[in-house]
Amino acid sequence: MSRKMASARITTASSELLTQLNNSLPFDKVLYAEDIEGSRAHAYMLGERGIIKKEDVAKIDSGLSEIKEKIENGEIVLDGDDEDIHMAIERHLTELIGDAGKRMHTARSRNDQVALDFRMFVQRNGLTIAELLLENIKTFIDVAQKNAKVMLPGMTHLQHAQPINFGFHMMAYASMFKRDYERFMSSYERNNLSPIGCAALAGTPHDVDRNLTAEKLGFDAPTLNCLDTVSDRDFALEILFNISTMMMHMSRLSEELIIWSTSEFGFVTLSDRHATGSSIMPQKKNPDIPELLRGKTGRVNGNLISLLTVMKGLSLAYNKDMQEDKEGVFDSVRTALLSLQVMNEMVADMTVNVDKMEAACMIGHLSATDLADYLVKESGLPFRDAYHIVGNVVNLAEDKGLDISELSLEDLQSIDYRIGEGVVALLDNRASMNARMSEGGTATVRTLEQVESLKVWLESMKVNNE
Ligand code: ARG
Repeated sequence: MSRKMASARITTASSELLTQLNNSLPFDKVLYAEDIEGSRAHAYMLGERGIIKKEDVAKIDSGLSEIKEKIENGEIVLDGDDEDIHMAIERHLTELIGDAGKRMHTARSRNDQVALDFRMFVQRNGLTIAELLLENIKTFIDVAQKNAKVMLPGMTHLQHAQPINFGFHMMAYASMFKRDYERFMSSYERNNLSPIGCAALAGTPHDVDRNLTAEKLGFDAPTLNCLDTVSDRDFALEILFNISTMMMHMSRLSEELIIWSTSEFGFVTLSDRHATGSSIMPQKKNPDIPELLRGKTGRVNGNLISLLTVMKGLSLAYNKDMQEDKEGVFDSVRTALLSLQVMNEMVADMTVNVDKMEAACMIGHLSATDLADYLVKESGLPFRDAYHIVGNVVNLAEDKGLDISELSLEDLQSIDYRIGEGVVALLDNRASMNARMSEGGTATVRTLEQVESLKVWLESMKVNNE
């Protein structure tokens, strides 16, 4: 039979099925630390405002510390038939300190209590994810700096397009994860408001000090409107969206690593620490880690859609549907924390196969656009005409089984007399890469400029966080 401490009105025992459906303790016990911390702050405030006696506050405070210790050393196991973590802790407290424990729930409801606990969980984990993102950005910057001269074919449609350098490619990922970092931090700042003291939905007649609890718990201020506060799960949706977007970026990197580590490409070799073997084919080394990171994106997206769907159309204020808000968030947060640590190791430990990357630049006439640009600049040809001339040059190279960068001046001039002497040097892949000097471009100096700029940004983040 389930305990029904929460109800004065219901006298018969709950159906076993109701208990199974209703009880959230099996999963919301994750929030025990937040629940205890929130209750201590609330009780302190009640004491300061003279709503309960200071001696009761002292008992509540030491009782809650003891319960926390006992949960952590395994003396209290949160697997009872309490309805949820809030009821479980209140029951343990009352068993431990008697009547004072029953005063703790003055001027609050489980509606503002759960809003508080859950928000604290989201805020804390948002910051941890953000810190891990900074570590990953640093790793991408390091790899970028070391590889700013290593050329590989830049692609569109997964077809060879133009020569770029591997540092430039890594800086693209650093830029994505920087945006992710900023997204987590902006959610943190927007949502750093305290729900406690809103009670069930309408506030409370007790003379509470919501500023005091907000301050004690590290929030910037109390929330504005109590009806909104107990109904709001935007903060949870935000972290789910932020995680989904971050995992989407991670899945694109993973896909590239998977392709790059095939025998056909061979651009990178993942360290043996991050590859697994096959149970039947002894020669195999499989990229399971990036495959799993790519796959995890599916489950975090599912969690986002679940909560969006749970919240859709709910009337104000609290509805029990909202108890469905937690498991997906716990799962996405756990997935994000693990995935970020794995990605950091995997990128730091991979081997960049310079020869393979540079050899691949000789396939696909990567500098063809440079010839078109030359004809436009030097001969004043309209781009479309230049484009067709270059098409003929590419055909000639194909006939000869050469890359466009390997054609002689005579070959080039046999297609168009306007092609001058300097062109052979211009069509060299490295020259082509380094010609892309526009701001944000792939030229090695521009890539290193991007590296510098993110390094300065990273330093400023560290200073701000201290
Ligand atoms: N276990 C509940 C939840 O997670 C706590 C809030 C219950 N509030 C209520 N009015 N039944 O949402």
